[in-house]
Amino acid sequence: EKKYDYLIVGAGLFGSVFAHEATKAGKKCLVIDKRDHKGGNIYCENVNGINVHKYGAHIFHTSNKEIWEYVNQFAEFNRYTNSPVANYYGEMYNLPFNMNTFYQLWKVKTPEEAKKKINEQVGQHAVLNPANLEEQALSLVGEDIYNKLIKGYTEKQWGRSAKDLPAFIIKRLPLRFTFDNNYFDDKYQGIPVGGYNVIIDKMLEGTEVLLNTDFFQRKDYFTGMAEKVVYTGMIDQYFDYCHGKLEYRSLKFEHEHLDTPNYQGNAVVNYTDSETPFTRIIEHKHFEFGTQHDTIITREYPNEWTDQEEPYYPINDTRNSEVYLLYKDKAAQETNVIFGGRLAEYKYYDMHHVIAHALKKVRTELKQAE
Ligand code: FDA
Repeated sequence: EKKYDYLIVGAGLFGSVFAHEATKAGKKCLVIDKRDHKGGNIYCENVNGINVHKYGAHIFHTSNKEIWEYVNQFAEFNRYTNSPVANYYGEMYNLPFNMNTFYQLWKVKTPEEAKKKINEQVGQHAVLNPANLEEQALSLVGEDIYNKLIKGYTEKQWGRSAKDLPAFIIKRLPLRFTFDNNYFDDKYQGIPVGGYNVIIDKMLEGTEVLLNTDFFQRKDYFTGMAEKVVYTGMIDQYFDYCHGKLEYRSLKFEHEHLDTPNYQGNAVVNYTDSETPFTRIIEHKHFEFGTQHDTIITREYPNEWTDQEEPYYPINDTRNSEVYLLYKDKAAQETNVIFGGRLAEYKYYDMHHVIAHALKKVRTELKQAE
């Protein structure tokens, strides 16, 4: 008889949803995390009443009613609507590309005028088989939008010229012919009142959590404590990198406290020129309509990934996808380990995806355990 039913590695969203449901079903769980806080990448640090998104801006959005109702049991959500603004050498444009943007670019006032202008802009760039990201973007939106709003940002993000990036990175570039700056098309959107920690704390209420605890420092010991392991860390690390390392893009965040109540008038401002070294500035208080006397901003710099950096975005090129499949096969043979979440599945997941996926896995698991 083991002490726990589940040892859960990672107190991020996946681990927390799993732990919540399993505990509710009467299972005994131990959650461990190597960081000094719960929440994984959705963790916020409260500084003078401002919730600082320590691992990048997080906006909850989904069209899935069940998931929306699920998260709403842990926190109330405010009416925050993501409507980023682009700064191109001091010229300001609304995003996503919509009638406001087209007016700002060309003074066109009607959808018909806008469509005509975009057709002109695409002109001879309309190609059937774009050879790279630049050709792809030009063929979809034409010169001005590409040069002012896409090129610099994308090149900074990937650390490479758009001519050297594959066309498939940009499949579509939605153009909206209404005056609507809402970035997401989803039905539901918002920020949890009090920040994301409220959700995680409530999910993990009644579950034992050990922080500052790295699974790999005592892998056999922890594995031996429970009937099953739920693993949400990096999949290649679980298998001791036996098929080589999976690669990531990383980010660097530079936080600054400023003695002014409102620095940029919006939560997210993208810097789309190629000279500014960062891609965006987040002003955290605006996620929650903060009225503090001061503010905290974060400059976000794209960064090459090394072992010392946080792994943020998986790189889904051929090499990494093939290596991942080798690990996935090995994972399928580990009958007492459940792999889930963005690192164990080497996949970019939004929060609503992670919740849906964790719910599916934990429900299947609990049914089998009955
Ligand atoms: P997460 O990484 O959160 O949790 C894994 C946990 O496991 C971590 O806490 C880690 O410390 C721990 N761990 C790993 N190895 C361990 C070990 N060996 N021992 C112990 N613990 C270990 N989504 C969205 O819906 N809206 C948004 O606006 C954004 N914005 C956004 C911005 C940026 C920059 C990124 C990178 C991502 C987003 N996301 C997002 C996605 C969101 O962050 C993501 O869906 C969830 O945080 C993933 O939760 P997981 O539990 O899978 O991983």
